[in-house]
Amino acid sequence: MTDLTVYLTQDDVARALRSDVLTGLTATPKTLPPKWFYDARGSELFERITRLPEYYPTRAEREVLADRADEIATLTGAHTLVELGSGSSEKTRLLLDALRRNASLREIVALDVSDAALSASVAVLREAYAPATVHGVVGDFTRHLALLPGDVPRLVAFLGGTIGNLVPAERAKFLTALRDNLQVGEWLLLGTDLVKDPATLVAAYDDAQGVTAEFNRNVLHVLNRELSADFDTSSFAHVARWNEQEEWIEMHLRATRDMEVHIRELDLTVPFAAGEELHTEISAKFRPARVSAELAEAGFELAKWWTDRQGRFGVSLARAVA
Ligand code: SAH
Ligand code: TRP
Repeated sequence: MTDLTVYLTQDDVARALRSDVLTGLTATPKTLPPKWFYDARGSELFERITRLPEYYPTRAEREVLADRADEIATLTGAHTLVELGSGSSEKTRLLLDALRRNASLREIVALDVSDAALSASVAVLREAYAPATVHGVVGDFTRHLALLPGDVPRLVAFLGGTIGNLVPAERAKFLTALRDNLQVGEWLLLGTDLVKDPATLVAAYDDAQGVTAEFNRNVLHVLNRELSADFDTSSFAHVARWNEQEEWIEMHLRATRDMEVHIRELDLTVPFAAGEELHTEISAKFRPARVSAELAEAGFELAKWWTDRQGRFGVSLARAVA
C-alpha cells in the first residue's frame, strides 16, 4: 500500500457525505455535490470517459501540454509541481518530463479526494521520477490548500477543466484561497474548456456508449453502499443539457417513474415523481476574457494563454502577484 498523507479521513468523508446528502435530497430541486462521483469505480469510469471519441477535452488539453511543456518549465523554473484533483496524473507527466529536462524538479504533490486514484498514480510517479519526492495527499481542494507542502517556487496544475465543476462563487473562493496560500511569483497552470457549439458540448457529456450515463448514476451506487440507500439506479436516466444563459453543461438524473427511496443511515425517505430531476453536476465553459478576469480578481496575472489547434480548450499560465 502506498503511503498517503490523509487530510480527509474516512470519518470526515462519511460525515460530509451524510450532511451533503441530507441537505441535497431534502432541497427543491434535489441536488447532490459532484465530489461523490469519485469512488474507485467512479475514477475508473472517468478514465474511460477521457478516451471516448466524443470527449475531446482530455485530448485537446494534452495537445497543448505536449507543445508547451518545455516553455512552461523554462518560464517557471518550478521545484515543485502540485496537482489538484490529480486523478491518474497521466497528462501531468508531460509537465514532469519537461521539469526534469529543465533540471528543476525536486518534489511532486498530488492531491485528490479519491484515495483509490491516488494510490495508483503515486506509485507510478515515485517509480518514474525518483529521486524527486512524491507526496500523495487525500484532501479536498476547496478546504485543504493551506496544508500543501513543497519547495518554492511551486507550479500548481489544475487540469481537466475541473474548475468548471465549481459554480462562479465557489470558483472565486477557490482561486482566492489558492492565491493566499502561494507566495508572490509562484505559478498556476489552469485548464478550462471553452464555449463552443452546443451539439459538440452535449455529445461530450452524453456519449453513445453510455459511459457518462454510468458515471453520473455511479453517485447513486455510492449512496446505496455508503448510506444503505435503496436507489433503483436503472430507474434514473442520464440527462446532459447546455444552459445557454450560464454557459455551462448541467447534468441531471431523471426519475423514470414515481419512487420512494429509503436512505437507512439517515432515517430518510425521499419521494421522486416520474420525470423529476436530481441535479448532479455542472461543467462550465469559458471565454478567454472570463478566465483572465477571474484570475485577476483573485490576484493572479496571466502570463500565457494557449489553446489546442482547433481552439476547443484553453490553458493559462498565471503568476501570483502582490
Ligand atoms: N486531473 C485529471 C482528473 C480530472 S477528473 C484530468 O485532467 O484528467 C476530476 C478529479 O478531481 C477526480 O480525480 C476527482 O477525484 C477529483 N476531485 C473532485 N472534487 C474534488 C475535491 N473537492 N477535492 C479534491 N479532488 C477532487
Ligand atoms: N472535469 C470534467 C469535466 O467537466 C468532469 C466530467 C467529465 C464529468 N464528464 C463528466 C462530470 C460527466 C460529471 C459527469 O469535463
